[in-house]
Amino acid sequence: MTVDNLYIKGGSVLVIDYGGQYTHLIARRLRELGVLALIEPYNRIDNVDFSKYSAIVLSGSHRSTFNADSLVEYSARRVLYETKIPVLGICFGHQLIAKILGGVVKSGCGEFGGVVVKVVSEDELFNGWSSEERVWMSHSDCVTEPPPDSRVLAVSENDFIAAIRLIVNDRVVYTVQFHPEVVHTPKGKLLLENFVKISGLKREWKSEYYYNYVLTELEKYKSIEGPIIAAVSGGIDSTVSALLAKRVFGGRLTPVFIDHGLFREGEPEEVVEMLKKVGLEPLVINAQERFLSRLEGVRDCEIRRQIIGEEFALVFSEIMDKEDSRVFVQGTTYPDIVESGATGVADKIKTHHNVAGLPLWFREKYVVLEPLKYLYKDEVREIGKILGLPDYFTKRHPFPGPGLAVRVIGEFTRRKLEICKKASAIVERVLKKHGLYDHVWQAFAVVGDDLWVGVKGDARRHGYIVTVRIVESSDAMTADYVKLPYSIIDEISREITRSIDEVTMVTYAVTTKPPSTIEPC
Ligand code: XMP
Repeated sequence: MTVDNLYIKGGSVLVIDYGGQYTHLIARRLRELGVLALIEPYNRIDNVDFSKYSAIVLSGSHRSTFNADSLVEYSARRVLYETKIPVLGICFGHQLIAKILGGVVKSGCGEFGGVVVKVVSEDELFNGWSSEERVWMSHSDCVTEPPPDSRVLAVSENDFIAAIRLIVNDRVVYTVQFHPEVVHTPKGKLLLENFVKISGLKREWKSEYYYNYVLTELEKYKSIEGPIIAAVSGGIDSTVSALLAKRVFGGRLTPVFIDHGLFREGEPEEVVEMLKKVGLEPLVINAQERFLSRLEGVRDCEIRRQIIGEEFALVFSEIMDKEDSRVFVQGTTYPDIVESGATGVADKIKTHHNVAGLPLWFREKYVVLEPLKYLYKDEVREIGKILGLPDYFTKRHPFPGPGLAVRVIGEFTRRKLEICKKASAIVERVLKKHGLYDHVWQAFAVVGDDLWVGVKGDARRHGYIVTVRIVESSDAMTADYVKLPYSIIDEISREITRSIDEVTMVTYAVTTKPPSTIEPC
């Protein structure tokens, strides 16, 4: 599937990723505004065809301009001097542009969290803003002297430069120190919309556009003979991918559901039933023993992810060879694709198994089709709607590909897996009973190695500690724990200790993301 046919002429924006934690949010906000935003890591700038784009955004970064590698400046120079399309630099992008164009950047002038900025010079970029607005800052360095011939548009309450306008190479370059892409900058989306207008971008990015693109792309593989195997797990991504492939390949498509033994209680049976209802009757492969025996005793979650990826590839490869199939379909989405290509750009937090874990040999041996590889989750849901997917799929809580393997902390054992399964089922049951399940993003239980002395049936014994994690979120990039009434926490706790003999303590996780993550490992 080539990206060449995806671009919208006059409506595509390049987002250069310097490893900032919000880079995906920049792309998502722009897409919400109807323009196609694609992310390229700065160290692959030489692969970029600038002629495909009509505007460029430079992202934030965990780096500082003082210790950035030479490719950082090289990439920004190429943008500034080799293109003539509008540019917006955000946070690190603001400092980088200012420095290259002769401004002064200093350290020790950080601002973090909500800050008020004052618009000091009228400009279309701030159309719809009051003279003072709250924005979100997250920086340690700042621009103390603007580049020559630039105009400072806004300053922060700490008197630091917050926005600059310049003309470089006969076109406009804007830079902002704050993050317009996060919801904590209430007028941020409006600022991005103003940038879209100033850049004269066409706003034609919508789900129907992608739907037509993907069907046309898939058509190109019709001439490859043999059955087409689609991996399905019951999640929205794999279901939508398989349905799209079915539209094109019809009866040649065989959905395959691999039961790795890491699903939630009753999930394999339920998922298979639901897949049948949408016309994807899967071939079910019970591979529990293969996965669990390899995982047993493994402490490191990243190694577990790797094992699961490898084992998936091995099982699928056996099926494909047996069926004489050359084409494999899976539900990879855009964040996974960007992350797998971005070597060393961002700080790696966790590897999602289906890209990093899918071994190269598999990609070389078969044609791997990833129909959703340019889409974000909310966009996948939109495609699901076009396909008439029932609520069951669109409303399910996200569930990690490596399943409960990432919810067992410390040594992986079958016993802990069982505890995790049973405790999670209780969490879900209690939330459903109180009508809360559909109102939270994810709800589950995790179990570690620590033990707590308990008294059960008058006997003193060591038992496991189960931690319950229930979060609300809109995109999994940030999350907050749900402030459940004590009575419900109490109900969950009692039910878990009552029905799982080896558990003597239940705790409730009360940390937001960041600094925590949603899953424990
Ligand atoms: P974290 O734990 O990074 O999770 O805050 C963010 C979202 O991603 C899901 N997640 C995964 N999904 N493979 C997946 O397919 C994984 O290895 C994985 N790890 C986390 C997590 O459930 C949450 O929705």
